[in-house]
Amino acid sequence: MNKILVTGGAGYIGSHTVVELLAAGYEVVILDNFVNSSDKSLEAIRKVSGKNFDFVKGDVRDSVVLDNIFKAHEIDAVIHFAGLKAVGESVQKPLEYYDNNLISTLHLLEAMKKAGVKKFVFSSSATVYGETEVYPFDESFPIGGTTNPYGTTKYMQELMLKDISATSDLQVITLRYFNPVGAHESGEMGEDPQGIPNNLCPFITQVLVGRRDKLSVFGGDYDTKDGTCIRDYIHVVDLAKGHVCALKKFDSGLRLNENGGYFDAINLGTGKGSSVLDMIAAFEKAAGKKLNYEVVDRRAGDIAVCYAKTDKAREELGFVAEKTVEDMAQDSWRWQSTHPKGFNS
Ligand code: NAD
Ligand code: UFG
Repeated sequence: MNKILVTGGAGYIGSHTVVELLAAGYEVVILDNFVNSSDKSLEAIRKVSGKNFDFVKGDVRDSVVLDNIFKAHEIDAVIHFAGLKAVGESVQKPLEYYDNNLISTLHLLEAMKKAGVKKFVFSSSATVYGETEVYPFDESFPIGGTTNPYGTTKYMQELMLKDISATSDLQVITLRYFNPVGAHESGEMGEDPQGIPNNLCPFITQVLVGRRDKLSVFGGDYDTKDGTCIRDYIHVVDLAKGHVCALKKFDSGLRLNENGGYFDAINLGTGKGSSVLDMIAAFEKAAGKKLNYEVVDRRAGDIAVCYAKTDKAREELGFVAEKTVEDMAQDSWRWQSTHPKGFNS
């Protein structure tokens, strides 16, 4: 297996994954419409990897674009990152989220079928587990019960993929990411959110670099060790390597169903939970300065604790996350402090 189509490859996780794919010897075609990224991340991939790749600017919902890619390239597998991902925005603009996230996947699967491409790695999320009081989150837990349109699109896409792979030769590995953070250790590429960051770590680094005044810590009265929420933060480079492991899994002799199809869902996390205050302490240490923050009311929809059971990733993919919270903070800070305005610095 050699040539991989990466949708959303200009984005945060996609760009780091392309670097790891190129390092592992794969050829890459990226399809991205830059709705949440820019061509500067493509330059960074070339600089960091010292390698080149093909790029197509286009929308994954556009079947003509997809057919042309599959005609021009002999694609062996697809990694599908493209999608809209802001939880709060999805509540305001559900139509855009259902349209972008569901239609892109359906059109991609149709184009793959036409071209005879069978292997598909999907970006899912721990959010598909919904609310549960049992930890860690195990792949055998029922999914659903999502609380926002973004999460529901991930849940619906998993259902679609499971149904389609049950009755065809489509082979799917859906990866449920926990909380991706950090940046490439070169400091040349990292997370570059547009507007006010929704997520904790980019907000912390933007306060530390002086772009924002103060972090609001959402809730100090949870039933956790210090009252703040617990999450499973995973370094984006570890996460990227998990995708290389998933591609290798396709070549390792899958237990296919009678139609030649396959479906499996696997968590990508570290299995360790860190509180918001733990993360603040790690970033203060990395930056060598105090963070301005204030504990405020809980954010609607947040659950107290979320971390992964990681046995399946280890057993099925041979994947174990290696980087620590300290690495995550140091690498994020290197990126943010040398690029205060992200790729536009
Ligand atoms: P991102 O926004 O940085 O990257 C997504 C990329 O897809 C962007 O470059 C965007 O321009 C592109 N894109 C979106 N819709 C497109 C379309 N219709 N056609 C072509 N390109 C399109 O996001 P990310 O953090 O890199 O996330 C990648 C994937 O992982 C997403 O599917 C996301 O939902 C999922 N995920 C992310 C997180 C997280 O916290 N970052 C957690 C769980 C799952
Ligand atoms: N938090 C703050 N202040 C902020 C931002 C976040 O205190 O300004 C807290 C949140 O309350 C939460 C923790 O930091 O306790 C992490 O919040 P994030 O928004 O960074 O991440 P979430 O766990 O809420 O959500 C992430 C992804 C979603 C995904 C979900 C489950 O952003 O896309 O994990 O995988 F669905």
